[in-house]
Amino acid sequence: EERAGQDHFDRIIAEDSRIEPRDWMPAAYRKTLTRQVSQHAHSEIIGMQPEANWITRAPSLKRKSILMAKVQDEAGHGLYLYSAAETLGTPRHELNQQLLEGRAKYSSIFNYPARTWADMGAIGWLVDGAAICNQVPLCRASYGPYGRAMVRICKEESFHQRQGWEILYELSHGTPEQKQMAQDAVNRFYGPALQMFGPPDGDSPHSQQSMAWNIKRFSNDELRQRFVDMMVPQAEALGLTLPDPDLKWNEERGHYDYGALDWNEFKTVLSGAGPCNVQRMQRRRQAHAEGAWVREAAVAYAAKMAERAAE
Ligand code: ACO
Repeated sequence: EERAGQDHFDRIIAEDSRIEPRDWMPAAYRKTLTRQVSQHAHSEIIGMQPEANWITRAPSLKRKSILMAKVQDEAGHGLYLYSAAETLGTPRHELNQQLLEGRAKYSSIFNYPARTWADMGAIGWLVDGAAICNQVPLCRASYGPYGRAMVRICKEESFHQRQGWEILYELSHGTPEQKQMAQDAVNRFYGPALQMFGPPDGDSPHSQQSMAWNIKRFSNDELRQRFVDMMVPQAEALGLTLPDPDLKWNEERGHYDYGALDWNEFKTVLSGAGPCNVQRMQRRRQAHAEGAWVREAAVAYAAKMAERAAE
């Protein structure tokens, strides 16, 4: 049966078709997808924090309602992704436990502080921009539930990027102080946003296998390059600069060359010692503890409904 399963799996991958939850799949395929999809879900949930921090301080009612809707979208993304991850066999409470105990990663980017209102613009434009660039190809991931979740998420991320762009555009065309605030936010978020794509290809243990399985369609460096190429004209249109003195159009390659990234900083953040790691995890644990009554009530309600259905 295993043999037939493997043959079927290999054929589906070769045809660039989709694996569904009930299909046989190699244990390593299941494992790497559970890892990637759950890390992605955790990122969406932890990613609510830097922006939630600004909801009460948004400069107008309109800005406040937009930001609130955006943060709620991130919660929704986390939920679709936990659901997709669960179809691989690990229940959500266990995935969550891995996060709470520090056994699961979430994106490095969410360990940086959101200091000013302009950071809401930089997060939308750069962070959600990087997220879209990374996630559009994931809409074609070979695992059905993940690909389908990504389609919906990417649509919402596009709106998020537009709202970030619009915040920066307004600030950049406002007072000199506002423009400076926008530039400062871009200066702080640009490098970390480039690191969202993951380590350089030579240092990315999972890439090759994930590409062979049609989970990833492009390597980390390919997507990072695509992002840089996309952001240069957008920065010009915003009237802001990207903080990289080595950024230069390379006619021969048909791409922008860009300066080396600080991979030591990336490692530090991944090891838990970034600027906000401790705070982010503390807040997540606290929110989980404070939500215990909701989970208990949901379980009690489900039990009551099951009892009624049995009567
Ligand atoms: N932050 C934290 N960890 C990272 C990051 C990052 N930016 N980039 C890579 N890593 C981790 C990987 O998870 C992996 O760790 P593990 O082996 O302990 O699981 C390790 O570094 C090695 O990296 P790769 O071999 O390159 O791992 P992978 O093939 O999974 O590629 C990538 C990493 C590109 C992030 C991939 O997992 C992916 O595309 N994930 C889906 C997108 C995502 O999670 N986005 C979250 C942020 S976007 C948002 O939420 C708005």
